[in-house]
Amino acid sequence: MKEIKDYSLLPHNTFGMDVKASLFVEYESVEELRSVLSDKKRMAGGWLHIGGGSNLLFKGDYAGTILHSAVRGYEVVAENEREIEVRAGAGEVWDDFVAYTVRNGWYGAENLSLIPGEVGASAVQNIGAYGVEAKDLIVSVETLEVETGRERLFTREECRYAYRESIFKKELKGKYIVTHVTYRLSRQPVFHLEYGNVRGELEKQGREVTLENVREVIIAVREAKLPDPRVQGNAGSFFMNPIVPRKQFDMLQQQYPDMPHYEVDGSRVKIPAAWMIDRCGWKGKQIGRAGVHSRQALVLVNCGGATGDEVISLAMQIQQSVFQKFGVAISPEVNFI
Ligand code: EPU
Repeated sequence: MKEIKDYSLLPHNTFGMDVKASLFVEYESVEELRSVLSDKKRMAGGWLHIGGGSNLLFKGDYAGTILHSAVRGYEVVAENEREIEVRAGAGEVWDDFVAYTVRNGWYGAENLSLIPGEVGASAVQNIGAYGVEAKDLIVSVETLEVETGRERLFTREECRYAYRESIFKKELKGKYIVTHVTYRLSRQPVFHLEYGNVRGELEKQGREVTLENVREVIIAVREAKLPDPRVQGNAGSFFMNPIVPRKQFDMLQQQYPDMPHYEVDGSRVKIPAAWMIDRCGWKGKQIGRAGVHSRQALVLVNCGGATGDEVISLAMQIQQSVFQKFGVAISPEVNFI
């Protein structure tokens, strides 16, 4: 177990905020986590469990304990000729897991290539891209209860997944820590190529539809659109795509016939926040040391030395102008700490 006082969180937040935690604890096993949780005095001073730090915006130093998982490893727990179930440690880097599934010829995770973060967060956030979400793969999520240190397994249904949403972000927020996640992958080809025109991109490059090629094309598309946090601090999509009632969308569509949208169900429609932010003229704009990325309006960037408050103030101005123009409220996907 690693325990460090006055620890710089710079390597643990992709926004590049140079803040400190009073204490940083990295555990390598479920037993180690249990012993940390049982130290009630330490936990009482406030705690935050982080993953890859790709969805966090620190407003200042963190006075409590930052917990980080180094629970690693993959294990095949079930298989037949059609499918395979893999149990992964919460501390594995998500994209390493995707690379591992692709190397083994298992289908399902490839559209989620290069999403920053770790396995544990994939199950809390229900990460998603190009028409696939983590929930499509998750079989079960193993956790420890913070209060008691007891193990509890959640089935996929019990996790109550929705778009970027789960029980761990809502009713049970702060109550359970994910230790392992079991995913189901297919041994037979199943591709999702329509969303975001992955198929078009494969055709343009004259590539066959294979697992490796889909992964490579998705990586290329992400790299072309999203800034590399090692070069420019950012947390990927800063806002979620709002879901609005069909009636409201129909009205908007009359005014903006080219408004892109995705059907959620019969009564609701998802509108890309990026498109609305772009239409409000924010793309490439900078206020103080915080800015809107020039190739993807959904991504806010640290132009160098920005504080959390500068980013939040920019975010609020964006929310206001989107609401004024479209009457749609957009909310952050990023957590403010
Ligand atoms: N668009 C614009 N201007 C922009 C960017 C996009 O008009 O600056 C338009 C595009 O033309 C497109 C629509 O907005 O019609 C949607 O854009 P895109 O396909 O790039 O996806 P997104 O909705 O902006 C979501 C996820 C991403 C994920 C992509 C691909 C959320 C909050 N974001 O973005 O996830 O990679 O789809 O599936 O759902 C993340 O969560 O950090 C993330 C990067």
